[in-house]
Amino acid sequence: MRLVLLGPPGAGKGTQAAAISKRYGIPHISTGGMLREAIAAGTPMGLTARTIVEAGNLVPDDVMAGMVRERLSAADTARGFLLDGYPRNLGQAVTLESILGGLGWKLDHVLYLAFGDAEIVRRLSGRRTCGGCGAPYHVENAPPRREGTCDSCGASLVQRADDAEDVVKRRLKVYGELTEPLVEFYRRRGLLREIDAAGSVAEVERRCVAALSGATSPVVSGSST
Ligand code: AP5
Repeated sequence: MRLVLLGPPGAGKGTQAAAISKRYGIPHISTGGMLREAIAAGTPMGLTARTIVEAGNLVPDDVMAGMVRERLSAADTARGFLLDGYPRNLGQAVTLESILGGLGWKLDHVLYLAFGDAEIVRRLSGRRTCGGCGAPYHVENAPPRREGTCDSCGASLVQRADDAEDVVKRRLKVYGELTEPLVEFYRRRGLLREIDAAGSVAEVERRCVAALSGATSPVVSGSST
């Protein structure tokens, strides 16, 4: 299963990616998560990326291409992967096809989490992220068992710098101009599975699984069932 998860900021990509990756036993590759790790570690790439990410803009395509190419070459992607946050513009989509082609692979599905702008600011302003493992929480919709502490690894929860209201507005603008055209790009390739991302986390997960099961149910040649 080689998947891309597409959708606006706050649509629930990270939340659903965690569940899908566990269900299908494939690694969740979050380019936003990888950038945040590099920023926290203070690597040269992290230092360059920091101001760009915190302003809500896109990190240059060549930096992202190198990062994704290296990650997809790791051994754990042999059974598949779930890319969350990449590609983010048409140039990156073409680069991804080339990276996958070089590995002898193709994408199987693109899950598109469709979500209206009005709810996005509410979801993002209430989001808290684990400073240790990156797991997403929400103060109302998905609170941790112990306030301020990650259920999985026990690290403290933090608010992302790019969840400030003016930066969220910038991220939405960038999404509309550069990333949304990918919906049509993948629809034309017959890869798009559109999911209504409104509703509870469990409801959206059921829709994702149904879309993937429908899309992957085996076709038995000559069968009348
Ligand atoms: P990235 O980390 O990819 O951010 P994003 O795409 O803006 O998405 P988010 O992480 O904000 O939201 P999400 O859809 O994952 O929602 P979540 O599940 O957390 O990228 C960050 C930055 O890195 C970019 O702006 C850019 O600068 C840079 N970058 C990354 N990739 C790049 C690339 N390829 N090229 C260039 N630059 C790149 O959910 C949000 C909240 O809602 C949470 O609190 C969650 O608990 C809650 N929630 C989720 N689902 C539900 C539900 N069904 N009901 C109620 N609450 C819910």
